[in-house]
Amino acid sequence: MERAEILSLLSSIKEKIDAAKDMKELIEVKNSELGKKSKFMSEALESLNQLIRIAPVEEKKALGAFINEVKNDVLSHYENKERVLREEQEKASLLAEQIDISLPGENFYKGHKNPLYPIRDEIISFFTDLGYDVYSGPEIENDHYNFELLNTPKDHPARDMQDSFYIDERTLLRTHTSPVQARTMLKHPNTPVKMIAPGKTFRRDDDDLTHSHQFMQIECLVVDEGINLAHLKSTLEKFMHKIFGPKRTIKFVPSYFPFTEPSFEVNVSCAHCHGKGCNMCKGTGFIEVLGAGMVHPNVLRMCGYDEHRFSGFAFGVGVERLAMLRYGIDDIRRFYQNDVRFLKQFQEEYRK
Ligand code: DAH
Repeated sequence: MERAEILSLLSSIKEKIDAAKDMKELIEVKNSELGKKSKFMSEALESLNQLIRIAPVEEKKALGAFINEVKNDVLSHYENKERVLREEQEKASLLAEQIDISLPGENFYKGHKNPLYPIRDEIISFFTDLGYDVYSGPEIENDHYNFELLNTPKDHPARDMQDSFYIDERTLLRTHTSPVQARTMLKHPNTPVKMIAPGKTFRRDDDDLTHSHQFMQIECLVVDEGINLAHLKSTLEKFMHKIFGPKRTIKFVPSYFPFTEPSFEVNVSCAHCHGKGCNMCKGTGFIEVLGAGMVHPNVLRMCGYDEHRFSGFAFGVGVERLAMLRYGIDDIRRFYQNDVRFLKQFQEEYRK
């Protein structure tokens, strides 16, 4: 093959390389144009190799250089093209895998708190908005605080209503949050107090629809000079309206607690019949929600207050009971059974 022919073959191969649109086409060009049996290899290079063998010594060097030039030229042309195509390929695949971070995310079920907690938190913020402090006391309590300072000495018949889990003669799981009243007053004797105390309480009850051996209470205590029943009533009215809505009326029914005098059960008008009487309220028109009263002078005195100067009101409310009445829950045990079908129904409560 003549040199000119070889050069024109070379440039036609380079054109084919340039024309390859992707790696597949490029490899096809490589196989057909630069493979062992290709015209370039079998004819062009071969003829040059033959030439070099018979060429006089002084021409061999120039010929050798020409062969290398031709080979390198086509090879580097091929490699350049290969690099360009690979870069293009990489760019295209990066583009295809690109994530659009502006797309809205997928919602997945995250779980949420037990329905007792939103209602507890709501009560806490209701009272803190009114300037109340929030206290807590120990769940393992001393008989002294749980009963004696609350005017319930040993052998007092009212102890029967609150049978407990005793750890020893004097130590028990607290039966109510009322001991936090005593603990708070003793800390600041003869000082006005306005507090609530949420927490766990325990009783030796057999679990059934309305009883649980562990439950949640919120205690409330206000002590100052001149506190009277009207303060208690208006506080409870506002509290009940917050929990059950503004249309409910409340009524005090005389009751007995050793630590208050007078003592009341507080009833709220039935949501179902609005006080007329129905199955829900057993025909009474009202539903009992909590215990309350004016702090007994003995309690004030034992807790370091001058009972002639100070007076106070107190109440204790079961959080489960409020939640059951508000949401129409029929069995107190549902709060603790962790049945997801039950818990899921309160998801919306949490978004508020
Ligand atoms: N501690 C009482 C109970 O668990 C509830 C109660 C009644 C609390 C009257 C009070 C109160 O503070 O004044 O049954």
